[in-house]
Amino acid sequence: MSKPKVLVTRLDIPQKALDMMNEKFEMDIWHQTHPIPRDELLKRINGKDALFCLLTEKIDKEVLEAAGPNLKVIGTMSVGHDHLSLEEIKKRGIKVGYTPGVLTDATAELTVALLLATTRRLFEANKELLNGGWSKCAWSPLWMTGLGLAGSTVGIFGLGRIGQGVVRRLQGFGVKQFIYSGHSPKKEGEELGVKYVSHDEILRESDFLIVTCALNDETRGIFDEDAFAKMKKSAIIVNTSRGGVINQDALIKALKTNQIRAAGLDVMTPEPLLPDHELITLPNCTLIPHIGSAEVRTRELMATLTATNIICGLEGNPMAASLC
Ligand code: GLV
Repeated sequence: MSKPKVLVTRLDIPQKALDMMNEKFEMDIWHQTHPIPRDELLKRINGKDALFCLLTEKIDKEVLEAAGPNLKVIGTMSVGHDHLSLEEIKKRGIKVGYTPGVLTDATAELTVALLLATTRRLFEANKELLNGGWSKCAWSPLWMTGLGLAGSTVGIFGLGRIGQGVVRRLQGFGVKQFIYSGHSPKKEGEELGVKYVSHDEILRESDFLIVTCALNDETRGIFDEDAFAKMKKSAIIVNTSRGGVINQDALIKALKTNQIRAAGLDVMTPEPLLPDHELITLPNCTLIPHIGSAEVRTRELMATLTATNIICGLEGNPMAASLC
């Protein structure tokens, strides 16, 4: 009997995950470390039984049609799934696995790192050291000053696993109060001592607003001109979820006009951001290239969980973590 066929959309997948699948399946691995071009994806997916993909691949009707009726399982090596057209996928009875849980610690840790880098202006300060700015104002009392977390109000927009992980990590920083907003209060909020507030309140009250929600129709563009207008002028926003949650033009305007103090972004639109993008020119915007879960062990766990999901799906067993 011939083996099920699996398309893997990237070369540099942790080997352990590839070994798990190699034993059982006929593998077609895209041979480069950059995203598979759309036309290659459309060509190669035809006749495959399963797809191992990343968040860089948009899996929509066109891809599903190109795949044909054999496609039974999709495993995305990500917790975010806004790149998957779940409605179309469900219509076809395709099972989908993803990777919640294993990247919570790494992403929460990176969120705290980005928050600190933004508010204490680490990249700006490093630039000054490299470009000779330091020698012009050595230890000037007001130079490179930022705002500390002690005594502040930290707002968490999206108190899921990662948001909760951020709160736990910040508990040693002397924060005055943690608040969160969302559909309804959560028991985890009570357990962590995080106060549930309205969306308007989180905008008005937060000194630091941390965005860790999923991107969906409700959250797309929710941080727009109106939202920035309600925030404190001293507020700092940090986003490690998806770029689409923030209306980027409104953010650029808010940063340029000092409507808010600063932003720290691990995610943006588009990704990768081109080097001449306006965001890059703003001194009060700290940018890093979508590395929330980029931790060695985490990436291996994400890859092996994706492989496990695919193996379970193709062998007719329940997946370890499934969306449908
Ligand atoms: C990363 O952004 C993920 O969704 O896993």
